[in-house]
Amino acid sequence: MCGIIGYIGKEKCLPKIIHGLECLEYRGYDSAGVAYINNKNIIINKEKGKIINLKNNLNLENESYIGIGHTRWATHGEANKINAHPHQVGKFTIVHNGIIENYSELKKMLEKNKYSFKSETDTEIACALIDYLYNKEKDILKAIEKALKTLEGSYALGIICSDDLEHIYAVKKTSPLIIASSKFGNFIASDVPAILEFTNKYYLLNDAEICILSTDKLEFYNQDLKNIKKQIKTFEGTYESAAKGGYEHFMLKEINEQDKVFKDTINYYFDGTIKSLEKNFIGFSKFKKIDIIACGSAYHTGLIGKSLIEKYANIPVNVEIASEYRYKKSFYDKKTLVILVSQSGETADTLAALKKAKEDGIKTLAIVNVIGSTIAREADEVIYIKAGCEIAVATTKAYLAQVAIFSLLAIYLGYHNKLIDNDDLKEIFKELNKMPSLIKKTISKANNYYDIAEKIYKNNQIFFIGRGIDYALCMEASLKLKEISYINSVAYQAGELKHGTISLIEKNRVVIAIATDEELINKTISNIKEVKARGAHVILVTNTNFAEKFYDDLIIVQKTHPILQPILTIIPMQLLAYKVAKNKGCDIDKPRNLAKSVTVE
Ligand code: F6R
Repeated sequence: MCGIIGYIGKEKCLPKIIHGLECLEYRGYDSAGVAYINNKNIIINKEKGKIINLKNNLNLENESYIGIGHTRWATHGEANKINAHPHQVGKFTIVHNGIIENYSELKKMLEKNKYSFKSETDTEIACALIDYLYNKEKDILKAIEKALKTLEGSYALGIICSDDLEHIYAVKKTSPLIIASSKFGNFIASDVPAILEFTNKYYLLNDAEICILSTDKLEFYNQDLKNIKKQIKTFEGTYESAAKGGYEHFMLKEINEQDKVFKDTINYYFDGTIKSLEKNFIGFSKFKKIDIIACGSAYHTGLIGKSLIEKYANIPVNVEIASEYRYKKSFYDKKTLVILVSQSGETADTLAALKKAKEDGIKTLAIVNVIGSTIAREADEVIYIKAGCEIAVATTKAYLAQVAIFSLLAIYLGYHNKLIDNDDLKEIFKELNKMPSLIKKTISKANNYYDIAEKIYKNNQIFFIGRGIDYALCMEASLKLKEISYINSVAYQAGELKHGTISLIEKNRVVIAIATDEELINKTISNIKEVKARGAHVILVTNTNFAEKFYDDLIIVQKTHPILQPILTIIPMQLLAYKVAKNKGCDIDKPRNLAKSVTVE
């Protein structure tokens, strides 16, 4: 997600702005830029990719004492230099975090008023709007206040104007923005980590308040342009604790972001109509077979994808581990679509599988989080999930967003193949709308899952069992638990136990059974009873109420449409794994021997 930093003061601005941007890297970005005042001119520098690219093209020792900087996480328009911030229109130069929802109607209005645009961004429209209003009002503050009343959506803006080279203006609605003060100058920033090197004193800007920053003064105004006093705050924590936004671990923070991640990912491809899915996914409807290739958790999302696409769209799907796939014979043909799933977009085995498919002339689609990553660049088509920067090694929010994409693909392909009709669509869309609040509600029940974690964290072996799509969920639940808690956990197809593994079941052996699939639930219950009869301690994870108690502990997940159910069911499993690892005192965000991006074979 975008990051904003700005500085005005007695010291050179560029080293501070670059440092601030580096501290905001954890938010995720794909380009970076600065605007600074030098010799009464506003100079803009921006680059695609990492901050180092920008830094290499800047003289940090420039005699400049006022500047704004930005890291961009692409929303409107691809990640390139033109779309990178800052944007300049007329007398105004701005950086922006958030989304301007009414930008297309504003664009039409501004074009009629002789404005033209270089980028594909909503930010350039916001900048032009302020310039347009300034030309009418002849007053910067009034122009910003009028813009606030016109701009819809969420935004935080850092603004400089060529008619006033002694101030930075800051304003926000919904998106976060803080104003910080130090002995040697004042700052704007998206988040506390960006300013902690220089000061821990800051003000929280409320929606529609405007701040005018000078070298040694801060003036705050409310939406009626009345001067207001604000309470200064002191941040007592460290950089790391600030970046974690108050959560003890990045993993917990990322689990808690999942309602927003779901919303951002879905809204990017779906506007409430099947037409939007048609527009975004039409190219994938001609394939008769799909191969999904990935590693680890991304492979597990592929298993969910297989279940959904086969069931709802009647297309055969083959899911394979990339490190196996790259060396084996493949039976694809021109009617096969190869889907590579990767959070980082850099996983060596997944990249090798992509190259193999491309060399064989097979169409490839990447489902990726990191914008501009190698897999995203090399695949024929890319669907970005909108998970933002994921820092904890064990993936949570990227997994959920990948599953959300597979749900959307299954909905679209099912409709296209006439297995989902308009009534089904209505029902699914209704549930889809409810999902962010259901995700939030599921996360808010963490204490229920934590109580169960207390009971099981001392075990050295835990089994997960399920059938069909619930088995795919067990695979991910088991990986999550073992990778961060170091408990040996294994996932089995519930019906397969009696062919060998059931010999491991003994008194108090913990078995976590996931049973949400209506068509298979009774079969799974029979398997649960088999392990229960042999002394297992059964934790049932289900969306159904049962009169009979054939389990020891129960985790109830809200029932939703089966095409969306996995998104809710995985959340208690993530939180359970988190709490077990926490109780065991494990290094949750950086489990031993693991790396976030596996770029070796
Ligand atoms: C587990 C986990 C890994 C990754 C795997 C693939 O929590 O994060 O299993 O899913 O290493 O990584 P990406 O998705 O970056 O290709």
